[in-house]
Amino acid sequence: MTVFREIEDRDVDDVVVLWQACGLTRPWNDPYKDISFARAGSHSTVLVAEHEGRITASAMTGHDGHRGVLYYVAVDPEFRGQGLGRKAVFAAETWLTQRGVWKMNLLVRSENESVRGFYEALGYTVNPVLCMGRKIAP
Ligand SMILES: CC(C)(COP(=O)(O)OP(=O)(O)OC[C@H]1O[C@@H](n2cnc3c(N)ncnc32)[C@H](O)[C@@H]1OP(=O)(O)O)[C@@H](O)C(=O)NCCC(=O)NCCS
Repeated sequence: MTVFREIEDRDVDDVVVLWQACGLTRPWNDPYKDISFARAGSHSTVLVAEHEGRITASAMTGHDGHRGVLYYVAVDPEFRGQGLGRKAVFAAETWLTQRGVWKMNLLVRSENESVRGFYEALGYTVNPVLCMGRKIAP
């Protein structure tokens, strides 16, 4: 049985390797900083699954006092197609519902449209909203 747990110090390098293998890192995002920031507060976390000492899946989640968000959903390519991605999302949903959150939002990069079917299989729908953003600190 796969159990998702909160990331520990010893997992950090392996999680970054997983994200790189899954094509989720970008030159302008420092994954170490993302992990460290998510772990710094009580409203966010990184959840991981492990198989024989190897990190096989992750999900970063948190909430802003209103809605939950989901980032870095990743499954090691060798472990895909076995329900691990579904479990990662469910682990994040459970982490949030235990903290009183009832709605989840997530972003899918436009170049990663192929993953849309994965979220649709899990009951997510495309919302008719325009996502806008701006960097507010260097
Ligand atoms: C997307 C990802 C997490 C799926 O992981 P996985 O372990 O293979 O997914 P699961 O086996 O849990 O699949 C769950 C369901 O989604 C479906 N599914 C999985 N990937 C899919 C895809 N790319 N398109 C359509 N459906 C998909 C499965 O068929 C399954 O449906 P079912 O339960 O009705 O049979 C994995 O492919 C991955 O890490 N991709 C790279 C990283 C990424 O793009 N993450 C998302 C960032 S927004």
